Amino acid sequence: MDISHLLTSHSRNMEASLVRELLYYSQQPDILSLAGGLPDENLMPVYPELKQLVDSRQYGPSEGEEALRECIVSIAAERGIQSSIGNVLVTNGSQQGLDIVSRLILDENSTILTEQPTYLAACQVFKLQGAKVQDVLSDAEGMSVSALRDAIEEYHPKAVYLIPNFQNPAGHCYSLERRREIAALLDEKNILLIEDDPYRDLCYDNVDLTPISTLIKQAPWLYMGSFSKVLWPGLRTGYIVSCDAFSPYLVKVKQAVDLHTNRLGQSMIAQFLKSGQYPDHVIKLQKAYKEKRDAMAEALQNELGDLIKFSLPAGGMFFWVKLPEGVSSQLVLTEALKDNVLVLPGTPFFPCKSPFDDSFLRLSFARVSPEQIQQAIMVIAKVIRQLA
Ligand SMILES: Cc1ncc(COP(=O)(O)O)c(C=O)c1O
Repeated sequence: MDISHLLTSHSRNMEASLVRELLYYSQQPDILSLAGGLPDENLMPVYPELKQLVDSRQYGPSEGEEALRECIVSIAAERGIQSSIGNVLVTNGSQQGLDIVSRLILDENSTILTEQPTYLAACQVFKLQGAKVQDVLSDAEGMSVSALRDAIEEYHPKAVYLIPNFQNPAGHCYSLERRREIAALLDEKNILLIEDDPYRDLCYDNVDLTPISTLIKQAPWLYMGSFSKVLWPGLRTGYIVSCDAFSPYLVKVKQAVDLHTNRLGQSMIAQFLKSGQYPDHVIKLQKAYKEKRDAMAEALQNELGDLIKFSLPAGGMFFWVKLPEGVSSQLVLTEALKDNVLVLPGTPFFPCKSPFDDSFLRLSFARVSPEQIQQAIMVIAKVIRQLA
């Protein structure tokens, strides 16, 4: 049945997500997948017992459960963000946070600036509102400040979307100096910052993690966090902490979108956070993921060090690998799959067409063991050597 006449022009332009399509392969038992952004379920704590939780059968507040919002105020304060529960909106993961913010600020006349590359599902949300997504030159320390200044002058954007810590996909982490310069520029130009920080607690090295939102003096800002990468992504729980001016608008959109986030999940997360187990849990995650990261770095260096370029990510889940000149990431995907290894080409992470967009792979070390990492990288190395 052809239903295209029923779709809005923006829905009609939606592209299929390569990541979703590859999910089919990643779920096959004989496939070794480095493609997904999924955390390791072996590292997830068991759920708190139902009898420890508050009764959550009735409808609840759109802003989120008070107990969880109090925990989020404390988490934000530890990160240097002073807020009250009035500034906190609980969402169905950060993904819904992005959707709510997009509905509030973006339309066909808006431009939003992003890093290059950036989180592809954020671009999907921005584009669904009809906005133009413009990427801005970025390096190992994040978005270039001079390129951002030029882009602000050229595109008059509504907002700048940044993932300063252990970015998906590039793994970069901003230096403190870069954070300060970006904040000063956004203040000078009075541009909204959307700061997305889901990987922050997956930190393996000694790096600065100051939220850019805390360095901003007068420009508007929105800071997003998530429990997906550190607790249970299946519970779909994240949050937005916003400057005062934004909070009432965000709640109104949340009401219109889904009334409120699932109360049972919120209650489980609040219970876990209040139980005092979280700090030890994070130490356990950091230790396990650091071991996997180091295993991937070693395997990449040993098997492909002479051919590829990559930086060691100080946290998060991803290596961003630059392939040798002329080697197509799409071809690496197809060839490696013949040997039951799944990789993710970097192409969909470039919001704007780029001459380099077929030259990167995003490799996740999160959900595989160090031994599987070695095995998978040997297959990828064989494929790349054949194609180079
Ligand atoms: C940068 C970034 N933002 C947001 C999300 C969405 O996370 P959530 O599960 O909280 O919706 C992801 C998930 O991979 C991500 O990488």
